[in-house]
Amino acid sequence: MKEKLLKLQQEALEKLSQIKNEDILEKFRQEYLGKKGELTSVLRGMGQLSAEERPTIGQIANEVRTALENKLQEKRQELEDLKLQRKLISEKIDVTVPAKKIEIGKRHPLDQVETELCDIFRSMGFDIVEGPEVEYDVYNFQKLNIPENHPARDTQDTFYITDNVLLRSQTSPVQVRVMENRRPPIKIISPGRVYRADEVDATHSPTFHQLEGLVVDKGITMSNLKSVLETFAKKMFGENTKLRLRPHHFPFTEPSAEVDVSCFVCGGKGCRVCKNEGWIEILGAGMVHPNVLRECDIDPQIYSGFAFGCGIERITMIKYSIDDMRNLYENDMRFLNQF
Ligand code: DAH
Repeated sequence: MKEKLLKLQQEALEKLSQIKNEDILEKFRQEYLGKKGELTSVLRGMGQLSAEERPTIGQIANEVRTALENKLQEKRQELEDLKLQRKLISEKIDVTVPAKKIEIGKRHPLDQVETELCDIFRSMGFDIVEGPEVEYDVYNFQKLNIPENHPARDTQDTFYITDNVLLRSQTSPVQVRVMENRRPPIKIISPGRVYRADEVDATHSPTFHQLEGLVVDKGITMSNLKSVLETFAKKMFGENTKLRLRPHHFPFTEPSAEVDVSCFVCGGKGCRVCKNEGWIEILGAGMVHPNVLRECDIDPQIYSGFAFGCGIERITMIKYSIDDMRNLYENDMRFLNQF
């Protein structure tokens, strides 16, 4: 029995020294030290031993068990250390490797200008209102004093969805929506996208942006219009900017004007930017036509108002001397990063 035990110990220790992974180590433990293991089965045979033999063999058996357990523990530690070392090597990070460059986007120049416009008019007490891009013909045209077959419809080549639903060709319908829903005093601007069936070129696009303005109250006159626009122009293009109103025609205003600012590059002398005119056209404006007020249930005998509308692309192109509108839509970072 003693020999059996010692042989078992030798054999086990030899096996143990060859083990290279934890799964096999666990199998080894079960094989030798587990409930159904070899050592246990040897010990079970102790019942047949004589009373004298039992203590000696018992002692040896315990020594064998302790020796195996100690070695097993050592081996376990060894394997764990090895595993950790491998992990440390495989997860090594070289902190000196140059990082990937992170491209951070920025706000589009059109959005920057729209925000600037909104800030300027907000500082003068205007509310900002939005209207739908899919609009009724009634709002885009009829209630703006542009009846069917009116020649003004030809100047705005409109995308129709049905006979009476369209993609708005201007932000002016928001005027009507506001006047139908609010009573004077009214003082709003409305920025947004508009659509026209135009070919793409340096100054045209089937979709672009406008900003509409509307003020309605008792005693509003053309000079109020001029002073608001002058304040706006100075803030947008510089303190020395001058304003010029030229007579024009819009169906929804009477009288109507086109508004120019003095060229902020040459100050009015004439240069490439203003095409030697000294002036640059920036918007259309006028006194709200009595028919439009009446359509919205506002009495033109009591109230008057002014309105204006400008192209946000146009303002952006003037402000940053951009000569081709397509640059604003192509999302080329080399272009956009300049603003
Ligand atoms: N809606 C006009 C256009 O798209 C611009 C405009 C002109 C708006 C005069 C106005 C205005 O409110 O009074 O060409």
